[in-house]
Amino acid sequence: MTLPVAVLVSGRGSNLQAILDACASGALDARVVYVASNHAGVPALDRAASAGVPHGAFTVADFGSRAAAQAAMAEAVMRTDPRLVVHAGFDHILGPEYFVRLGGTPVINVHPALLPLFGGRGMYGVRVHESVLAAGATESGATVHRVHPDTIDLGEVVVQRRVPVLSGDTPEMLGARVLEQEHIAIVEAIRRFVLATTPLR
Ligand code: GAR
Repeated sequence: MTLPVAVLVSGRGSNLQAILDACASGALDARVVYVASNHAGVPALDRAASAGVPHGAFTVADFGSRAAAQAAMAEAVMRTDPRLVVHAGFDHILGPEYFVRLGGTPVINVHPALLPLFGGRGMYGVRVHESVLAAGATESGATVHRVHPDTIDLGEVVVQRRVPVLSGDTPEMLGARVLEQEHIAIVEAIRRFVLATTPLR
């Protein structure tokens, strides 16, 4: 069965694009059934539109509070009946209003470092790479992990890919090298769910 997947985004959407491309090429037996963003007008929503995927923006401005926006977003996601929800660059911490509506649907997240290192509250995007360089780490990487309520970046690791930190790296240079590995890791992680839900013949 082709795995129906919903994807949460906030901005650029390059991980979403990697998933869409892998589905379109047949490299991944999955289908993106919905894309939800907490910001309107972001490139990730344009990517969903270009791929013909239903999508929506759930902003605090429209819904009055983060909790109300996240509840509405979860309801929209669940109406599309996904078997997996992927957080691909979602930049808000999700609360109980979201998780309670997802029920038992598995959730994974992509993070731009080797968790459990350089994760947790406030660790998003370039800040992660700045922290890796400030700590003098010799390697970083991409992690895809399970997401559970109240465990920011601490769910079980599904896929991890390592990259070296090179002398002279800026946060942007390191981030670009990590991002290439994120795109591979997120597709590989979804493939594991595809395989886990495919009956043996
Ligand atoms: C990615 O690097 C992702 O790992 C990061 O945001 C970026 C989104 O890029 N997420 C986090 O830092 C989560 N803590 P994208 O919109 O191009 O996929």
